[in-house]
Amino acid sequence: WPVPEVALLSRGGRHDDHMGNEIDEQPVVARRVLDALAPSIRDGALWNRLGLPPVEEIDRVAVLGCGTSLHAGRALAGVFARVGRIPTRALTASEAAHEVWEPRTLVVAMSQSGETADVLRALDGLPSGHGTVLALTNNTASSLARRADAVIDCLAGPEIGVAATKTFVAQVLTGACVALSGLSVSGRADAAVLDADLSALAATPDALSGALHAWRDRAADLAADLVTASGFLFLGRGAGLVYAAEGALKLKELSYRWAEHHAAGELKHGPLALVDAGTPVFVVDDGDPRLDVDIAEVEARGGRVIRVGERALRVGGLSLQLPRTGPSWGPLETVVPLQLFSRELALRLQRNVDKPRNLAKSVTVA
Ligand code: AGP
Repeated sequence: WPVPEVALLSRGGRHDDHMGNEIDEQPVVARRVLDALAPSIRDGALWNRLGLPPVEEIDRVAVLGCGTSLHAGRALAGVFARVGRIPTRALTASEAAHEVWEPRTLVVAMSQSGETADVLRALDGLPSGHGTVLALTNNTASSLARRADAVIDCLAGPEIGVAATKTFVAQVLTGACVALSGLSVSGRADAAVLDADLSALAATPDALSGALHAWRDRAADLAADLVTASGFLFLGRGAGLVYAAEGALKLKELSYRWAEHHAAGELKHGPLALVDAGTPVFVVDDGDPRLDVDIAEVEARGGRVIRVGERALRVGGLSLQLPRTGPSWGPLETVVPLQLFSRELALRLQRNVDKPRNLAKSVTVA
C-alpha cells in the first residue's frame, strides 16, 4: 500500500513512532504559535481580527471539549479567570445539554480534529442568544469551524498519533494568546498578572525543550522501574491540576493501566487509601507550598513520589519554596515528562503507541 503523504510528516525524527516525534516537536510548535500570534497580542489586534466582542461585553466564558482538548480548555479558562477575573466553567461536551446557558457568554469550543461529534452536538444544542462561539482547532476546514462565529487555528501541524501531544501544547498557547490579546485592551485585566503571563509565553519554547532534555532518559529509567505497577495516581493543585489530569489520561490511553488524577487536597478525603508501599504518585508541582504536606502524606504510606515541575529549592535537606510565579495557564512544560513516561511505559508493555486499542483519532459518533 502507498504510504499516505501525511503519514510521513512526523517520521524523520529520532523515533520509529509518530508519538515520539510529535512529543519532540513541541518546542518547535510552541515557537510557531508565538511567532504567528505574539506580535498581535498587546494592542488587542488578534482579538479584534477574530471579530470577538470587547471583553467588557462578556460576562462569562464557557470552554467545552473532550479528553485532552477539554484539558487544554481548562488551562485556557485559567487565563480568563486569573488575568481578567471573568467567571469561567469548563464543560465536558457530552454533558453540555444539561447546562443552563446565559447571554453574553463566550463559548470556546476546543477540538484538534474539529470533527468530534460530542462537541458538534453541544454547539447544535446551544439556545439562541447564548453569546459568541470561538472554535479553537487544528483543522480550520472542519465541521466545528463551520459552526463557529470565529475560528483560530492552533497551528500544530498534522498529528498522526491517536494520543494528542503537540496539539495540546498548541491549543494551550494559542488560547492563551487570544485571551491575553482581548484582556490587554480591557479594563478588567490585572496588569501585573498580564505582564507576567506575556513574559512566561516568550519563555515557553525553551521551557519545553528543557523538559525534554531533562526527562528523556529519566522517563525511560522510571518506566523500567515501574513496569509492574498496576495503578498510578496523579496529583496537582490549582493551575497544576489540569496537567495531572492530562498525565493520567495519557497513561491510561497508552499503557492500559489504571490511572487517576485528584486535587492533592482531596487525598485525605479518600484516595490516600489507594497508597501502599511502592504506589507511584506523580505530583505536578506548580509551586504551591502545600504540596510538601501532600507529598509527606504519600511518603509516610510508602508511596513513591515522582515530582515534576519542581520549583522548590532544596538546601541542606530543607525545602525552600520559591514565590509562585507560574503563568495563569499553569506549568505547561510538566506535560512533557508525563507524555514521555506514558510512551516509555507503553513501549515496555509492547503497546502500539500510535494507535492504542479501542480508540480513534477522531471520535465522530456521539
Ligand atoms: C487524547 O489523547 C485523546 N485521543 C482524546 O481524549 C481526544 O483528545 C478527544 O477525543 C478529543 O478529540 P478532539 O480534540 O479531536 O476533539
